[in-house]
Amino acid sequence: MTTTAWQFGFHDFVPEDEGRREALCTLGNGYFATRGAAPESRADGVHYPGTYVAGCYNRLSTTVAGREVENESLVNMPNWLLLTFRADDGPWFDLAQVEVLDHEQELDLERGLLVRRLRFRDGRARTTRIVQHRFVHLAAPHLAGLETTLVAEDWSGALTLRCGIDGDVTNSGVARYRDLGGRHLVDHRTAEVAPDIVVLHARTSQSDIHVAEAQRTRVRVGGDLVDARSLLQRGEVIAHDFTIDVERDVEVQVEKIVSLHTSRDFAATEPVTEAAEQVRDAAGFDELRRSHSMAWARLNNEFHSGLSMSAAAQQAVHLHLFHLLQTVSPNTTDLDAGLPARGLHGEAYRGHVFWDELFVLPTLDLRMPQLSRALLRYRHRRLGQARKAARDAGFAGAMFPWQSGSNGREETQRLHLNPRSDRWLPDHTHLQRHIGLAIAHNVWHYHQASGDEEFLRDFGAEMVLEIARFFASLAQYDRGRDRYVIRGVVGPDEYHTAYPGRDRPGIDNNAYTNVMTAWLCRTAVHVLRELPDQRRHELTDQLDIRHHEIDRWKRIAERMFVPFHGNGIISQFDGYDRLAELDWDAYRQRYGDIQRLDRILEAEDDDPNRYQASKQADVLMLFYLLSAEELEEILGRLGYPMPSIPDNIEYYLTRTSHGSTLSAVVHAWVLARGRRHRALEFFDEVLAGDIHDTQHGTTAEGIHLAAMAGSIDILQRCFAGIEVRDGALRLNPLWPTELGPLELTIRYRGQPLTIGVTGRTATVRTWPGRRRLPVTCACGSRTVHLGPGETARFSLENSLRGGDPAAHSPP
Ligand code: BGC
Repeated sequence: MTTTAWQFGFHDFVPEDEGRREALCTLGNGYFATRGAAPESRADGVHYPGTYVAGCYNRLSTTVAGREVENESLVNMPNWLLLTFRADDGPWFDLAQVEVLDHEQELDLERGLLVRRLRFRDGRARTTRIVQHRFVHLAAPHLAGLETTLVAEDWSGALTLRCGIDGDVTNSGVARYRDLGGRHLVDHRTAEVAPDIVVLHARTSQSDIHVAEAQRTRVRVGGDLVDARSLLQRGEVIAHDFTIDVERDVEVQVEKIVSLHTSRDFAATEPVTEAAEQVRDAAGFDELRRSHSMAWARLNNEFHSGLSMSAAAQQAVHLHLFHLLQTVSPNTTDLDAGLPARGLHGEAYRGHVFWDELFVLPTLDLRMPQLSRALLRYRHRRLGQARKAARDAGFAGAMFPWQSGSNGREETQRLHLNPRSDRWLPDHTHLQRHIGLAIAHNVWHYHQASGDEEFLRDFGAEMVLEIARFFASLAQYDRGRDRYVIRGVVGPDEYHTAYPGRDRPGIDNNAYTNVMTAWLCRTAVHVLRELPDQRRHELTDQLDIRHHEIDRWKRIAERMFVPFHGNGIISQFDGYDRLAELDWDAYRQRYGDIQRLDRILEAEDDDPNRYQASKQADVLMLFYLLSAEELEEILGRLGYPMPSIPDNIEYYLTRTSHGSTLSAVVHAWVLARGRRHRALEFFDEVLAGDIHDTQHGTTAEGIHLAAMAGSIDILQRCFAGIEVRDGALRLNPLWPTELGPLELTIRYRGQPLTIGVTGRTATVRTWPGRRRLPVTCACGSRTVHLGPGETARFSLENSLRGGDPAAHSPP
C-alpha cells in the first residue's frame, strides 16, 4: 500500500482483496461515482464494476421466506468503463489467465485521478505494458474519461481493442442480498450516433428513470489517429472494436470520454440527446484532466487542514475527505439527494440514507455549509411523507424513516438474512425513531454554524417544530412516575429490539431518545422565539400550533423520564441493568471477532436481547452530541443530577462489541478528555476502518462515510475543541501534542477563520475585508469580539493557573 500523504494505492494484484480496493479507489463527483474496477472486468466474484448516480433508486419485489418483500436500491448503472483487448485471435484479456508482472492502482488524492499500471506476460510469452488514467470530472459532473496506453514490449502482431458500454449489469454486489431481485434496468437501446460515438439508453423498471451513457473514442498508434473501427451491438452492450497492427515498443493510446445523463437532470431535454451532444463537444482527455484537477485543487483548499501527523495518518485523513467529497460536492447542491451511508461506492444498505449525516454534517457545516443545506433540503422535501408516516402510526407531526431513499417512505427491510445461520429474520430496526432527533439536531447545528436565518425561516423551523410535535405525541405521561415516558422504540444500539420473552417489539425509555427529546422540546420553543414575528405567526397558523402544545413541550423538557441504575449509571433503557451479563472473554475466545455478536448469538439459537451487550455507543451518544455543560443543564432541568461521565463510559465500554464503525468515532470522542491514550487508540481505529477493512469484508460493499467524516470531526470539534453554540465560536482545545500542531480554516457564520491549535492553546485569526462582521469567540470564561483581520490567542493552561485565557491583538 502506498503511504505518502496525497497518494493512496496498491502495488500488487490480490483477487480476494480486489473488492475492497475497488471501493477505496472509487472516483466520483457528488453526481455520480464509479468503483475503481478494472476496465476489462465484469462482475465475476473478484471484480465488481459499479456506477451509481446520486438519488437514482428503483424498487423490486421478491419472495423470500414465503413473503413478498419490496426493496428499494440505488441502481447500478451501465458500466461505462468497458475496455478490453486481445492479441491476434487469442482470448480476451483476463488478469486471471496471464502472468501478472506488475500491477498498481494509485489514487491521486490531490488531483482526483486513478492511475493503473500493469505489466503482464500472456500464454504465448508476449509481454505487454499498460497505463490507464481515469477521472470523473468534478467541474463537468456528467463527464468521465479513461485513457489507456498500451505498449507491446517484445512482440508485434494484430491487436483488437474493444471499447464500449456494458448495460448488462445488475445489483449483485452484496452477497447476502442476492436472493432479492437485482435487475433494475430494462428496455435497453443502443445506437451509433456518429462515427466515433455510441450511446446506450435504459430505464429503471419501476421508478422509470431514463439513463443514457454516450462514449466517444479516439485511438492513436504512434501518435497517428486510427479510423478503422467496427460496431459491436450485442444484447445490452455497445462497443467500437479497433483492429490494428502493433509494433514492438510503439504506443497504442485509447482515449474514451463518456457522458452520463438521466431523466432527473435539470436543464436537459432527454438523456440520449444530452449525453451524445456532450461527448461530441467535449474537449480531449488531457484538457479535461487539467480542468478536473484544477476543480479538485479549489475544493481541496476549502477542506484541507495543515496537519503534522504521521504520513500514514495524514494519508488516511486525506482519503477520508476525498471520499466524502466523491459523495457530496458542489455538484450535489442542485440535486435532490441524501447522503447514502456507504457513499456512492457500493451496494451495502442499498444506498439508503440513515442518521449517519449526524456524523458528517458538522464537517460540512464548518467548511461548505451549502452542502449541508442541500442535504437538509432533501429531508425537508420529504416532510410530507414523514407527516403521513406519523399520521398512519397514530402520531402527530413528522416521523422520519430510519432508512430513506427516493420519496422518504420507510425503506428499512422487514426481513433480513443472518449469513451465519442462513435464516431470514424479522427486522425491527425501523423503530429507531431517534432519526428525527438527529435531523432536528442537524438543522440546529447548521443554523448555529452558518447563521443562515433564511434556511431556518423557510425550511428548518418547520422541520424542528414538526419533529418536536411527533416526539411530544410519542411521549406519554406516566402518572405513577409523574414523568413522560417513551415506549416501544429502538435506540442507536440495534442489538436490543425487544424485551426477552415479550412479543411486542421495541424497548422502553431509551435514555438517548428521552434526553434528546427533552433537548428537542426546548430547542423547538427556542426556534419559535428566534423566528421573525411574521414568520412565527405564519408557521404557528399553518401548523396550527397552539399555546397548550407549546406548554406540553415545555413540560416534557422538564419532566421527561431518564432511567438510571447503580451509582449514577444512565441505563441504556428501562431494565437494561436487569439483563444477563455476557461472558465476553468466552465469546472472544470462541469466535475471535465478535463485532457482529447479534449474528453469532442468533446462530447459536440465542438472542442478543437477553444481554447487557451493545452493538455501538448508545448512552455515550449523549456525551458525543452534547457538551458536558449542555447535558448538565438538560438533566438539571429534568431534576436529575449530572452523573459521572467516566463511570458511564467505563460501564458501557466493557459492554460494547463495536459492531458499527460509528462506535469508534463516538468512543474516541468521549474518551478524549479523560483517557487520551485510549481515545487515540479509537481514533486510530477510525482512521483504519476502511483502509484496513476492520469490519471484515464490509468495505468492498461501500465505504463507511460517517466514520470517514467522523475522523475529520474528531480533529476539529473534539481534539481542537471547536464548538458553535449560543451565537459564539467556543474553543476548548485539548489537542494531543503527539499529533503535531493543527492549522485549519473554517467558515463560521459566513466568515473564514484560521485556527491554530496545539495542546490547550488556540489562535484564531479572522480574515481581513471591509464587509466582514465581527466574530464572537469564547474560551474559558473570556469572550472576545474579533473584527476583520484580528487575531486572538487563548490559553487554557494560563486560565487554569489563574492567568488571562485570551490575549487579543488588533490587525
Ligand atoms: C449502524 C447504524 C448506521 C448504519 C448505516 C448500522 O450498522 O448500526 O447506526 O446508521 O449502519 O451506517
